[in-house]
Amino acid sequence: MKIDASYFPEIKTDLDGLEKILINRMFEESKAYHSWRTQFVEIYDESSMEIRLFLLFSLVYFIGWKTFFNVIDGYDFFYKSSKDLNDLVNRIHQMNDKFSLPFFNELINVFARDEKSKYKQLMDKIFPTAKTPLDTYFDELVKTLISPVIRHKSGEFYTPSFLVKKMIDKAYIFGETVVDPSCGTGNFLLEIIKKVIHSDKSQNSKFEAISNIHGFDINPVSLILARVNLLEASGNYHVDLKDNLKIVDSLFFEKDEFKQKFELVIGNPPWYTLRDIYSPQYQEKVKKLAEKLDIKPLPKNILNIEIASVFFYKTKETLMRENSKIFFVLPRGVLTGSHASRFRNFDGFRNILIWNFDDSVMKTFNIDFICLYGEKDSKLSDPLKLRKVEVPEITWKFKKEKTKSLYSDDMRLIVSKKDFLLPYSKFIKNSRAYTQKFISKDKIKHLIPSGESAYKKLFHKGADLNPRNLIFVKVKNVDNENAIINPDERIFKRAKAPWNEIIFTEQIVNKRYIFNAIKSTELVSFNLFSHYSVFLPLNKNNLEFDFEALDQNSRRFYNLINGYYLNHKKKSTKMTSLLENLNHWQKLITERQLSRIKVVYNNSGSILTSAVIIDNYLVTGDLSFFDTNDINEAYYLSAILNSKVMNEQIRIKKSSRHIFKIPLGIPIPPYNKKDKIHLDLANLGKIGHQKAKKIVESTLNKNPRTSKFKLQKILEKKLKSIFTEIDEKLYLLFDLKNNLEILH
Ligand SMILES: C[S@@+](CC[C@H](N)C(=O)[O-])C[C@H]1O[C@@H](n2cnc3c(N)ncnc32)[C@H](O)[C@@H]1O
Repeated sequence: MKIDASYFPEIKTDLDGLEKILINRMFEESKAYHSWRTQFVEIYDESSMEIRLFLLFSLVYFIGWKTFFNVIDGYDFFYKSSKDLNDLVNRIHQMNDKFSLPFFNELINVFARDEKSKYKQLMDKIFPTAKTPLDTYFDELVKTLISPVIRHKSGEFYTPSFLVKKMIDKAYIFGETVVDPSCGTGNFLLEIIKKVIHSDKSQNSKFEAISNIHGFDINPVSLILARVNLLEASGNYHVDLKDNLKIVDSLFFEKDEFKQKFELVIGNPPWYTLRDIYSPQYQEKVKKLAEKLDIKPLPKNILNIEIASVFFYKTKETLMRENSKIFFVLPRGVLTGSHASRFRNFDGFRNILIWNFDDSVMKTFNIDFICLYGEKDSKLSDPLKLRKVEVPEITWKFKKEKTKSLYSDDMRLIVSKKDFLLPYSKFIKNSRAYTQKFISKDKIKHLIPSGESAYKKLFHKGADLNPRNLIFVKVKNVDNENAIINPDERIFKRAKAPWNEIIFTEQIVNKRYIFNAIKSTELVSFNLFSHYSVFLPLNKNNLEFDFEALDQNSRRFYNLINGYYLNHKKKSTKMTSLLENLNHWQKLITERQLSRIKVVYNNSGSILTSAVIIDNYLVTGDLSFFDTNDINEAYYLSAILNSKVMNEQIRIKKSSRHIFKIPLGIPIPPYNKKDKIHLDLANLGKIGHQKAKKIVESTLNKNPRTSKFKLQKILEKKLKSIFTEIDEKLYLLFDLKNNLEILH
């Protein structure tokens, strides 16, 4: 991966030249380069360790120091001086402190005289002018020199000042001991210093307040920039906070000197997940830490755990004293994702508060974010963690339309909404409490109380039937027995390499082995408007595989596609044949697939739709299905699954495109033919199917290319009265009173 300086295109050639010199001088073999590697591999990863990155960081390092001396010398030492780099290196060396990084100092010794001046010229090109505001310059420098791909590895993104200011106004009280445990270039600390300086307190107390400000970061170069930023912001007080800035991994910080010292912990911890961690050892360490902090999610969600959420709890243990405050910017997923379901127990915290933001503010980050405030209260730590917290949520918006830069002082936030959030539900598994996502109090009123449906275990996912380019076919008749098959072009739209190749044409197989299959792409409310033909070497009566029983043509064709599959499958895939893959998790060769009556619904998407399927259709893995002998039970379920009441529940509970088991976490009772409401629902389901069939057929007759989306819209309009009637029955079935007005 090449790291580029896109913001300063004019320096690319200079960088290339210097990089070449270092490579020719075998700098990669040097002690200096090795010690840089050892320290920086912990921040990024093996794959990022290149001479180019070293060179770019050396520039940031020397620029950091140079500005530092400018600030302490009153801006006339290096700006005006024509002194060469050796003076700078010597001066850094004389400081003899932890921010002097010998591996960068050593770099200068490698260059010959005119190469040194080339390096210096390069620095001068990107060095701030006397007019550049330092506090934003450093962020810009890092952002433009170091590629986002690299910075993502340690979550290096900077918080815009409008947000930093707002958070500090809420949380910081003059004079408090405060720390940002991942302070980067010191944006939060800087604003606190500005606030202190502008206060009307005495000189002494201002000095003391500044001395109480601390910042930690894993990246020593960021801390150099933070040190300069803070020094500059402290103005006439001239406080060099070098002893308060620590180069540490805050996740594994155990030093006693700071044990529960701080009254406020504030910042924006790195955003990446356990999955993004390159080193298996470090990944394991973080997993163990999450366990120790009582926030480790269920095994299936562990890789998605947010490092920022581990920071939140780790800080409570190591840095916060009793009753102290924490205020962090966090990815919004911590309120909704299953990976954060133990995080949301908020054990040992009180007065939790959430700041949410409207879309225009959200856009300032790539991921939806919140600010989360809390106070440490060990008395509230409960072994079972069953405490249900009601959390106030404030939504903010920009006062003015976004006109200027995000860093402009014009960007003020004002309140757009206030709400309360409640845990949707809590459950205990293996004596651990999990809090399912937070939902607004308002929405909770409209929720059917959660409870498992009797159908939960009876609905199953269909068979994935992959790779589709090998088995989804268009069929031409040859005679009563045989058919000519070609790949079905419909499935190539979303196929990915190597499964997007046409690997056969005009093949002859026996018709016995052509099955009907259905996918969610043709499912609308109460109707499935098209299906697929699939070649499978199975007996139609019992779905058994008997290779010997295949006729010659079908056998030859299976050999062809099986060979292709085995040659192209991933090395890590353990499957020993195509059929084994098609029958993964036994989803294909099962009695259920043979049932003549099935109720299906889509496993993902923005809305839930369902239909009753009669006859021999195999169900693919993007659908869930229930097999039954009772057609009325099928219509009853399909009426419920298509309803607006059900869709509203899904909308509230869903946190991604996945729908899968959510409909069955609603207590749909087993069908009872003696229950009037059940019978009525079954009848409405049946009418829904009859009407939908006619509507879909006539629409497609007029325009065979009508999209699924359009068909769904037409059905929703034309079947409105049926949907309303179904909902009325459901209010009775689920004993709902409040929903009418929100749905219609
Ligand atoms: C999102 S940035 C925030 C920077 C700054 N607080 C701000 O808001 O502008 C996250 C910072 O965390 C640092 N970081 C990443 N992992 C860390 C760790 N384990 N311990 C301490 N700092 C870490 C990165 O170097 C980066 O500066």
